[in-house]
Amino acid sequence: MPRKIILDCDPGHDDAVAMLLAHANPEIDLVAVTTVGGNQTLTKVTQNALAVAAVAGIDGVPFAAGCDRPLVRPVEVAPDIHGDSGLDGVELPEPTFDLDPRHAVDLIIDTVMNNEPGTVTLVPTGPLTNVAMAARKEPRIVDRVAEVVLMGGGVHEGNWSPVAEFNIKVDPEAAHIVFDAGWPVTMVGLDLTHQALATDEVAARIEAVGGPVAEFVLGLFAFFRKAYQDAQGFEFPPVHDPCAVAYVIDPSVMTTRKAPISVELTGTHTLGMTVADLRREAPEDCPTQAAFDLDVERFWNMVIDAVGEISASRDAAER
Ligand code: BDR
Ligand code: CA
Repeated sequence: MPRKIILDCDPGHDDAVAMLLAHANPEIDLVAVTTVGGNQTLTKVTQNALAVAAVAGIDGVPFAAGCDRPLVRPVEVAPDIHGDSGLDGVELPEPTFDLDPRHAVDLIIDTVMNNEPGTVTLVPTGPLTNVAMAARKEPRIVDRVAEVVLMGGGVHEGNWSPVAEFNIKVDPEAAHIVFDAGWPVTMVGLDLTHQALATDEVAARIEAVGGPVAEFVLGLFAFFRKAYQDAQGFEFPPVHDPCAVAYVIDPSVMTTRKAPISVELTGTHTLGMTVADLRREAPEDCPTQAAFDLDVERFWNMVIDAVGEISASRDAAER
């Protein structure tokens, strides 16, 4: 049975790839997409999500816009990494459907409450504002969600400060709520995602797929590469967000270790740090775990297969 997921995202170049992977992989049933202000303003990332849906040919999946700002702190966006649109470097097609009229928080709650307990997984790839709000508004979702597999944080690495990652740093209070709720949380953080580099070899494999979807992904990677070179000193860009989807598809694509994880809310230099206690083996019932080592080859095979799958179904639709 494919796993039902809600993708809560802020597209974002890597969020876009996460959506393509979630749509095309047969192990995933994408039941809803929700957007949150993060990489760019809510208006822009929501427009981008609908554009990516048009590229992927996603149809019949509700998309809803959510929170436009963090719970406590002012809005902080990432134009250095994702450009002014939030998805610079590619042409964005017009949306092919309208947004669901519900607020993202209500779509998350309705989807979890209307499905059997333990069948819906939340995959947040942006700030955790919507997910935290949903857990507060309808606390029963905490026991009903299968698990939360989020891209964010890191044990030994930061990118928005020396020790904090963007999704956590911009809304640390929301992250605290999500890590502390008691549901199973897998933190697919920078320790892991910095291995998911879109190298020249990866780009060549996508180019070999050919067609407009491959072109779209190559456009994303080209912009992302330059941004990561200029802003973060990387040779090749880390494509963070599809790593969380890959874990849901097949958890053996990465190693994980259970550990209590706390979000720093008061540190002068450490705000938004995800502090994992690795001093000893965590108890079996510890609900949080961190991801460490990625099977890079299998990960890219998943992404490239997804691009091929979407290209083939677009070709078939056009014939
Ligand atoms: C995360 O922040 C955003 O820039 C990316 O989309 C990813 O979710 C990486 O720190
Ligand atoms: Ca993101």
